[in-house]
Amino acid sequence: MQNKAIITSALPYANGEIHLGHVASTYLPADVTTRFLKQNGVEAYYVCASDDFGTPILIAAEKEKKTPQEYVAHWNKRDYEDFSAFDIGFDLFYRTSSPENIEFVRYVYNKLKQNGHIYESEIIQFYCPNDKKFLPDRYVIGTCPYCQAPDQYSDLCEKCGRVPEEIGSPKCAICGATPTKEKTTHHFFRLKNFGDPLFKWLEENQNLQKDVKKYVQNWITSGLVDWDITRDISWGVPIPGDESKVFYGWFDNHLAYISSAVKFLNDKGINGKEFWNSADIYHFIGKDIVYHHYLFLPAMRLGIDSEYKLPNYIPTRGHLTLQSKKISKSRNWYIGLKEFLGFYSADYLRYYLVSINPYSQDDLNFDWDDFATRINSELIGNLGNLVNRALGFTKKTFDGQIPVPDQYDEKDREVESKIKNLATELSDLIQKNHLDRALKKIMEFSANFNQYFQHKEPWKKGPGTSTCLFLTANAVYSIAIALQPFLPKSSQKIWEQLGMNGKVSDKHWNSISGLELKSGHVLGEIIPIFARIEDADIKKRKEKFETK
Ligand code: MF3
Ligand code: ZN
Repeated sequence: MQNKAIITSALPYANGEIHLGHVASTYLPADVTTRFLKQNGVEAYYVCASDDFGTPILIAAEKEKKTPQEYVAHWNKRDYEDFSAFDIGFDLFYRTSSPENIEFVRYVYNKLKQNGHIYESEIIQFYCPNDKKFLPDRYVIGTCPYCQAPDQYSDLCEKCGRVPEEIGSPKCAICGATPTKEKTTHHFFRLKNFGDPLFKWLEENQNLQKDVKKYVQNWITSGLVDWDITRDISWGVPIPGDESKVFYGWFDNHLAYISSAVKFLNDKGINGKEFWNSADIYHFIGKDIVYHHYLFLPAMRLGIDSEYKLPNYIPTRGHLTLQSKKISKSRNWYIGLKEFLGFYSADYLRYYLVSINPYSQDDLNFDWDDFATRINSELIGNLGNLVNRALGFTKKTFDGQIPVPDQYDEKDREVESKIKNLATELSDLIQKNHLDRALKKIMEFSANFNQYFQHKEPWKKGPGTSTCLFLTANAVYSIAIALQPFLPKSSQKIWEQLGMNGKVSDKHWNSISGLELKSGHVLGEIIPIFARIEDADIKKRKEKFETK
């Protein structure tokens, strides 16, 4: 582990609410990782921003009769509120339209140009004679040339998922007129210049997922194409020297990882650039944006002489499906984060989404019944039960004081070693990004202590009772710390029930294995931490999805 880290997750478009699909693949894994690193004493910062520019946002703003500035300000604020309610602990949530990012994007462009990585070329674009506007991407609607679906955007057919080479019967999305074709000069980034260095970087970086690496290297071998970075619209970062045009959103958005981190650090009195270059850099993403993060982003950084270093980790995960079907906002097949948190606590969702989320490209499925079962049987039946019975029993029989242990027998020594190994075992898994396995390990640890407790039958008050309570209370102490990255609120509650002061997040990770709860220590008030999810309640939640 490096002693510094910058963590980012894919920037959400300032264009609609955050839903469970977003948080499962990027924001939650990034948050758990950041909390873990901080708890290990790493100077780690989690930085994110709203992705403000681009044609879809401009069109959406026009529809709502708002300026794009007003429109994105609304979503930036709302996203931040929703993330905060889910305990996603950004150190900064900024925006791609910030003055710092605009300046940085233009700086990067100029430097790329100086280094010979930019050229201009004339292309033919749809143009609306009526609106007197070029019509990129979503400004043109027509028939998909592959599947013949009508009313598709020219940059993506939502029916078959392909990008039409040339849309049939094109119409202007604003006024419905048939567009003409006009010449316009666009700026291109020479992605082709970077095939070899990208291949080498992928080869040398041992932290990237092997399967992703392989298919990205295949793309490189089969030949990269230069990249049109221009849009003839008004909402974006103006191109230096050609100010009536703006950059394509994918040219400027990921640069906000850097510009936002540097702003945050500089504001803190830290040299942002130096910090960036001496830290571990993590970009958490979903698998739909692999191309951008494994090719464009590193190529652009290489193109400015690696003034800001390339990422060490790009943890890439699959998509969330909902009741086994693809999430779709237009078909109302999704669950808004805010809506969900109106029903259940953030920690229930965090528990569930981490447990079903492996470190891979495989899709994961949100299922209401599975959610209820896991919360009731695992989180409550196993973990909540251990905390409550161990601490409750100590409260009742020893006046809430941790007793002095007697001689250890073999069983005692066995469970003691489980406490002593836990910090390292979990740390190994989390550092390798296996958050689901780490959480499972905590649950196994808890199950082991439930069995141990059962086996020792402390309610009979025979010999070995004090040792059992001493060790079990220490196991709960370990659990409180180990759970902090995953379930920040619940872990703090356990911490307080243990009679500990301050924040559990301030406790060093290694304390998990320290058996630090001493004899004579007095516990706090013991109350159940979790409430069961009732069947009737889940039935109601499912209704929305049954009528479809
Ligand atoms: N807004 C983009 C999306 O949702 C992600 C941008 S990530 C960035 O697909 F790094 F490129 F900004
Ligand atoms: Zn038009």
